[in-house]
Amino acid sequence: MPRPFPIALIGQKFMGRAHSNAWSQVARFFDVSLTPLLHTVCARERGELEAFAERWRWLNVTTDWRDIAGYDDVELVDIGTPNYVHAEQSIAMLEARKHVACEKPLAGTLEDARAMAQAAKKAAKRGVKTFVWFNYRRCPAVALAHKLVREGRLGAIRHVRAHYLQDWGGPSTPLSWRFQRKLAGSGAHGDLNAHIVDMARFLVGEEVVEVHGAIARTFIAERPLPGSPRKKGKSDVDDCVLFLASFAGGGTASFEASRLAPGHQNDNFIELNGEKGSLRFSFENMNVLELCEVSDPRTDGWKRIMCTSAGRHPYAAAWWPDAHVLGYEHGFVNMAADILRVLGGEQPEAPLPDFEDAYRTQRVLEAALLSAKERCAVKLSQVK
Ligand SMILES: NC(=O)c1ccc[n+]([C@@H]2O[C@H](COP(=O)([O-])OP(=O)(O)OC[C@H]3O[C@@H](n4cnc5c(N)ncnc54)[C@H](O)[C@@H]3O)[C@@H](O)[C@H]2O)c1
Repeated sequence: MPRPFPIALIGQKFMGRAHSNAWSQVARFFDVSLTPLLHTVCARERGELEAFAERWRWLNVTTDWRDIAGYDDVELVDIGTPNYVHAEQSIAMLEARKHVACEKPLAGTLEDARAMAQAAKKAAKRGVKTFVWFNYRRCPAVALAHKLVREGRLGAIRHVRAHYLQDWGGPSTPLSWRFQRKLAGSGAHGDLNAHIVDMARFLVGEEVVEVHGAIARTFIAERPLPGSPRKKGKSDVDDCVLFLASFAGGGTASFEASRLAPGHQNDNFIELNGEKGSLRFSFENMNVLELCEVSDPRTDGWKRIMCTSAGRHPYAAAWWPDAHVLGYEHGFVNMAADILRVLGGEQPEAPLPDFEDAYRTQRVLEAALLSAKERCAVKLSQVK
């Protein structure tokens, strides 16, 4: 008999909706031993919060996230707030002995990320667990790619080629928290490169050891203020960051993130080339994994795998008949299932990133920013 599992959520906008949907759907599609009980939702939009709670069936609301630390029955706190509050909120919840699932990037600054990893290490001694919502790991095609690489199907990985390009960050886009360094930490870099660095580390199974060079550029230095569009404020984050890196095993990698790439709406792309083959994934065609194996030169070439078959592809058994495709929200539901499996003492379908893992991604992001600033190569051992 599944046990009710009380969860609190902080943040009720974009990720608040994605996570509320995930916690609502997960026990309907997956056989999990813990059934989410939507205990409390917290956010700053007092006027919208009641309606949000009613729509998603959250039982309680609060506009002060600190209240949640005092709710003894809440077991997991889910954090979907801007990057600058991740550390304060996560650390307070870990100290209150609650498991924490925090949005990515782990934090706006390396200092905050380090404090979070240290707090998580301390909390782990009391059995408290942490998770970071790098949701793209849980697209079935990416989880399958992970399994194929682990099985040695590509052999040693020589190249990773990843980009995450969007097109919504033009000059008329208002100055939300995402364009302010003190609130976001960085721009396209922490937002988008964070995802592809995580995916690259996840798929290759090695750490990045050096960033060889990077470009960070801000094209749009002023943006209209939300609510008073005639006035402008300073946009002081990068609009794009590109960098080159090496993995511990000698493989090379290129990463590029931009919010100013017309024609690329949510183009999260990664390709791996190994000694025995290649694979590639593109989120805008997220149900498909492309695989090329060079075992027989007569039949070399890309194979298109529709990753929707129960029993053959990760997570597919929980969803629909073959080729009844999945979308963005399913990655979050799949992640909720894996979090509940781990907290229920079971194995996740694919490894979940914890704060320590996300801190490693954050160090790579920091190395790239340092490299761009100093115009030099940066070894990860230099990133303190
Ligand atoms: N995994 C993904 O694919 C993905 C996608 C988008 C955003 N994100 C991440 O999710 C986080 C939130 O992004 P978003 O797009 O949902 O932001 P958003 O601006 O849409 O929503 C932020 C929410 O946080 C709440 N909030 C802010 N400060 C708060 C505080 N001090 N106390 C309580 N609530 C507070 C706001 O009231 C709002 O409801 C960010 O870290 C972002 O990088 C991840």
